[in-house]
Amino acid sequence: MTKIITKWTVFVLFTTIYERKLRVKTIDFNLTSLYILSGDSMKRMGNILEDAKQKKYAIPQFNINNLEWTKNILEACQKENSPVFLGVSTGAVKYMGGYNVVRQMVDGLIRDLGITIPVILHLDHGTSVDECKKAVDANFDSIMIDASHYDLETNIKMTNEVINYAKDQLIEAELGTIGGTEDEVTGNLQFTKLDDAIEFIKNVNIDLLAPSLGSVHGLYKSKPDIQFDLMNQIFNAVNTPLVLHGGTGLSDEIIRKSIRLGICKININTEFQVAWNEAIRDFINKNPNEYDPRKIISSGAAAIRDVATQKIHLLGSNNKG
Ligand code: 13P
Repeated sequence: MTKIITKWTVFVLFTTIYERKLRVKTIDFNLTSLYILSGDSMKRMGNILEDAKQKKYAIPQFNINNLEWTKNILEACQKENSPVFLGVSTGAVKYMGGYNVVRQMVDGLIRDLGITIPVILHLDHGTSVDECKKAVDANFDSIMIDASHYDLETNIKMTNEVINYAKDQLIEAELGTIGGTEDEVTGNLQFTKLDDAIEFIKNVNIDLLAPSLGSVHGLYKSKPDIQFDLMNQIFNAVNTPLVLHGGTGLSDEIIRKSIRLGICKININTEFQVAWNEAIRDFINKNPNEYDPRKIISSGAAAIRDVATQKIHLLGSNNKG
């Protein structure tokens, strides 16, 4: 009897260890294949940014706040075959639970929805070197260090700290200060100086430069006043792809002109918030007795998709995936 029990114990122990090994192997495999997947997107996006610069179109950065926005934005981009940056502010990261939650949510959606367009998970306005490092550690594809509130020398130093820590992430930096409020970041508009842009680019090897050209985050309080001459001068002076922040509230004409003058990534956040908010309020007003969260939240889905689709066509990024 003891012999049988001993044999049984050894068998159970052995199979448990073997099973664990198998499980570890499976996890390893999944992580590796996900990383290869986003690595591939990064390589493709590098080429697409160059293509955008040559052929005069722009890649959208659509900011995400939760699972529903991410899902609907990804589906709209896939339908239009548009590459996309999914922008996540530090506030949105906190809201969703942390950098790893966001990375894994995006990876899960890419897999389960069969998304094949290049998707770049991007930290928007990394408020400190530490926040940027956390995004690198969680394998975000692209990092924006926003040291624009500091003097030029400190901005260069902090940007280089992020560059040195990054693995193969794309790096975006801001120069001059973009006005308005983006989540937890408020800036008093200060236009980028051309000489600073030249000096900055000499000292930092970045993939994307966000100069301050008159656009602001959030809703415009007065008519946007974009400095197109400055935009053109910076485009001609530096070879780095340029980003236009504060895409909400800019007329189609301003956006088209900016793209003609060399902008190749445009960030849009508030417009999704306004459209989603209106749709949800309308649904609740019309259905005061509805309490199913899925029905309430998904009543904003069409609004998110519509904004994404309309912007993709305005930016000309459809069929560039
Ligand atoms: P808006 O919220 O004004 O669209 O700006 C978005 C943005 O620039 C994100 O970095």
